[in-house]
Amino acid sequence: MSETKNTTLDAASERLLQYDNIEIAKGLLAEIEKKAGRKLTYYVKTFGCQMNARDSEKIEGILEMVGYEEAESENADFVLYNTCTVRENANNKVYGRLGNLLNMKKKNPYMKIALCGCMMQEPEVVEKIKSSYRKVNLIFGTHNIYKFAELLVHCLSSDKMLIDIWKDTDKIVENLPVKRKFSFKSGVNIMFGCNNFCSYCIVPYVRGRERSREPIEIIRECESLVKDGVTEIMLLGQNVNSYGKNLENPIRFSDLLREVNKIEGLKRIRFMTSHPKDLSDDLIAAMAECDKVCPHMHLPLQSGSDRLLKLMNRHYTKEQYLNLVEKLRNAMPNVAITTDIIVGFPGETEEDFLETMDVVRQVEYDNAFTFIYSKRTGTPAARMDDQVPEDVVKERFDRLLALVQENAAKKANLLTGSVAEVMVEQMNEQDESLVTGRLANNALVHFPGKAYMIGNLYQVQLEECKGFYYLGKVVNP
Ligand code: SAH
Ligand code: SF4
Ligand code: F3S
Repeated sequence: MSETKNTTLDAASERLLQYDNIEIAKGLLAEIEKKAGRKLTYYVKTFGCQMNARDSEKIEGILEMVGYEEAESENADFVLYNTCTVRENANNKVYGRLGNLLNMKKKNPYMKIALCGCMMQEPEVVEKIKSSYRKVNLIFGTHNIYKFAELLVHCLSSDKMLIDIWKDTDKIVENLPVKRKFSFKSGVNIMFGCNNFCSYCIVPYVRGRERSREPIEIIRECESLVKDGVTEIMLLGQNVNSYGKNLENPIRFSDLLREVNKIEGLKRIRFMTSHPKDLSDDLIAAMAECDKVCPHMHLPLQSGSDRLLKLMNRHYTKEQYLNLVEKLRNAMPNVAITTDIIVGFPGETEEDFLETMDVVRQVEYDNAFTFIYSKRTGTPAARMDDQVPEDVVKERFDRLLALVQENAAKKANLLTGSVAEVMVEQMNEQDESLVTGRLANNALVHFPGKAYMIGNLYQVQLEECKGFYYLGKVVNP
């Protein structure tokens, strides 16, 4: 076991160092391929949120530059799991698959297994892998992804397990290679980490303190993506509403949106996630005034009970939340509102739960992600007594889900017959005479079309609503 160091190099020199390492890795891979008598392949499996998806694109960018070819499955020579630990089940999935992977490794002498992402920031996880999954080659965390090329060099030079996990970092290394999953849409990180410490949530512990990127770097990245054919950008951060506050020259998220909106050739802008406590009137105004910003707000509620919101450390009340929804709808009558809700937070009573149901009934969300509370070791909520019995949580969860689905269907039906703007994303997977695209509210639409339409916006008549998707046709093609 060895480690790279949290070096004192500045970000620009660090970038150069990584490009040097890409060259070294290229040479090492070429030698191994010669020995194997074939091309070597990689497979990256991503768990968790959009941040992880974007991180995986950065890792794949390096693997491709080094010369690996992408494989369709885990039957590959370099397999990496980019893990999530936000809930216990996210965690368990990884262990399950890892067992199979190690069996495959026995049959392939060239195979390397790497693990990274949020789960690896938990010391117990690393201990477990060290003792029970000893043939894993590389383990790294969320703070040193930019060092992946260097870690890969170690990994290609030795078969010993390399573990490199940092507690935190203040460095943001720009302009490393990226391989985008979609040609026309991309996530762009605007900030990393989280300072909110919601009492149930592990993210601040595994992603570190909040750090914003310089606006100029963000704009440059967006512009170069657009030059490369991207028409839709999603600005990513755990709490985008507090973007820019800790920069040397502070800037508001609303003003960043206005800047990105000016980029010629860009057609759609999305962002996530917004924390209700920091959602300003100015952001609502910016959303309404920027033509490229989708009228969609993902605004996690978590709970409708003031008592629980306090225990969750969310810093808003039910009334304040409902007030924000009203402001959003006043500024943008067609705004789609989606949310995240946790059921079964410690001490949740039937009364607390009914407050959540009440908000769901009042807001009529376009969609809601509902989660059963999962105890995360190290968070304050894990130490609260009064964990709610499983059967009670399950019964509440089912009631909530039914209401959420009823609302979502009602909302979706409202659009039937109307004409709406659709971004074409891909050819339809079942029927090659159709293309598949998304409305501003993220709902799927299938309609007759051709491949050249991918990445462009069309006015589509939504003829039929099939629950969570629509069938339609282009008006005035
Ligand atoms: N930064 C975002 C959310 C990141 S995690 C925000 O603040 O909204 C995505 C969602 O996972 C959260 O909104 C929450 O609903 C859910 N979540 C987080 N920790 C959880 C836990 N311990 N148990 C169940 N759900 C959880
Ligand atoms: Fe977790 Fe809260 Fe931060 Fe979201 S804002 S990542 S829920 S601590
Ligand atoms: Fe999961 Fe990490 Fe995202 S814990 S939800 S992958 S920030």
